[in-house]
Amino acid sequence: MKTYKIRPIGDSDIPLAYNIFSTNRALPWSIESFTQSVNSGVCLVAEIEGQLQGYILCSVIFETAEVLDISVQKNVQNLGIGSALMNAVIECFQSKKIEKLILEVDEFNAAAIGLYEKYDFRTIDIRKNYYQDSAGNCSNALVMCLSL
Ligand SMILES: CC(C)(COP(=O)(O)OP(=O)(O)OC[C@H]1O[C@@H](n2cnc3c(N)ncnc32)[C@H](O)[C@@H]1OP(=O)(O)O)[C@@H](O)C(=O)NCCC(=O)NCCS
Repeated sequence: MKTYKIRPIGDSDIPLAYNIFSTNRALPWSIESFTQSVNSGVCLVAEIEGQLQGYILCSVIFETAEVLDISVQKNVQNLGIGSALMNAVIECFQSKKIEKLILEVDEFNAAAIGLYEKYDFRTIDIRKNYYQDSAGNCSNALVMCLSL
C-alpha cells in the first residue's frame, strides 16, 4: 500500500472530490450544494502521490459537528483511507473542543457502518424510510453519535 497524505481541501480539489462523491451515490447532490457545504464546513482529503482518493466533509454548529459525507474512490476502498480520514477529523475536532460528532447512515450501508462502529459511534435514533433509491425502495437512516 502506498502512503497517503491527509490535508485540508483546496478549491482546485472540489471537481475531483465531487466526482468521487457522485460515483459513490445513487442520488448525489448538485455540485453547487456540494461546493457550498465544502466552503461552509470542514473538509479533509486523502491523496496518494498527489492524486485525490477520498474526502470527509463535515459541518459544525457550536459544539456539535456532523459528518455530511465520507467517500473513498472505489478502487482503493478497504485499504484504510476511510479510517485515516476519520482519525484526522476526530483529532481536528478534539483540538477545537467540539463535544460530539453525529451522522446519518443508511441501515444497509455495511461498509460505512463498519467504519463508524470501529470509531465507537453509537446508534442514537432511527429515521424510518428516510432514504429512497431511484427505484423507489425505502430504507431507514441510523443516526449515530460519537462523544469526543
Ligand atoms: C465507507 C467508506 C468511506 C469506508 O472507507 P474505506 O477506506 O473503505 O474504509 P477502511 O478501509 O478504513 O475500513 C474501515 C473499517 O470499515 C469496515 N469496513 C470496510 N468495508 C467494509 C465492508 N464492505 N463491510 C463491512 N465493514 C467494512 C471495517 O470494519 C474496517 O475496519 P478494519 O480496517 O478494522 O477492517 C467507503 O466504503 C466508501 O467510500 N463508501 C461509499 C460512500 C459511502 O457510502 N459513504 C458513507 C456515507 S454515510
